[in-house]
Amino acid sequence: MTRTGVDPAARVCKSSRTHNRDSHLQCKNGILGEMNGANMAEIQPLVAGNWKMNGLKPALGELKKLTNALGGASGANTDVMICPPFTLISSAAHQCNGSSVQIGAQDCHANESGAHTGDIAPEMLSDAGASAVIVGHSERRADHGETNDMVNAKAQAVWRAGLTAIICVGETDTQRKAGETLEVIANQLTGSIPDAATAANVVLAYEPVWAIGTGLTPTTDDVAEVHAAIRTQLEAMLPAGEGRKVRILYGGSVKPSNASELMAVPNVNGALVGGASLKADDFLGIIAAYT
Ligand code: 13P
Repeated sequence: MTRTGVDPAARVCKSSRTHNRDSHLQCKNGILGEMNGANMAEIQPLVAGNWKMNGLKPALGELKKLTNALGGASGANTDVMICPPFTLISSAAHQCNGSSVQIGAQDCHANESGAHTGDIAPEMLSDAGASAVIVGHSERRADHGETNDMVNAKAQAVWRAGLTAIICVGETDTQRKAGETLEVIANQLTGSIPDAATAANVVLAYEPVWAIGTGLTPTTDDVAEVHAAIRTQLEAMLPAGEGRKVRILYGGSVKPSNASELMAVPNVNGALVGGASLKADDFLGIIAAYT
């Protein structure tokens, strides 16, 4: 995960205190946070906020509260990211420079440049200071007809720009009620994850569509079942050993009041947070699940 002009290891390795040598070397190879493949429990969690289409310049004040509360780039045992709208990426990245908060984007075009009015290339996002891009969010899939193939192409474009792809999957309420959840997720994973995915260049986010912005969440047993299925499939799809190191985030109505319970579920390695990431205090309450 890189930011323009910044050594990825310097940017992302924030916990040399807790590193062993192997995990530190993995960081040097571009992993967003450190991970120790020998023990899944040592995958460094990521708590990412997706601001969606929210936030004018004053919203950067919330980011300031966040960076003030979290402090500098060393010592954190949880990676923290905010994905603001495109218009705020550059100033947000500037503001977060030297802090432990990373900046991501919410979408990109698959091409590097060209006649695509209104679109934005991952290279531009990198240039603006983003280190990751969410691709395949259910709101993009639903509102813009994004298919697995398109998400797959976008993920590869994100890598071309040297960034990390946060690939989203999730079933609708209808699919869930029809008992199709695991099948839907399996198909989305097969279609959306490019062959060259590794723990260094991909984060997975499971976001049940019916849980997004509704205040509803699956039971912890349901989350455990889906995340275990995702882990098993990632282990089968990815090159040797990578699948067990990929971070799998849960997203959908994560709040300070339910974060500890959800983050304690096996194979949940962090959260992708919408509404509750807009207020620093709420977001900090979620990050606190890892402290
Ligand atoms: P909420 O946390 O608002 O439910 O949104 C989740 C989400 O879609 C994050 O990408």
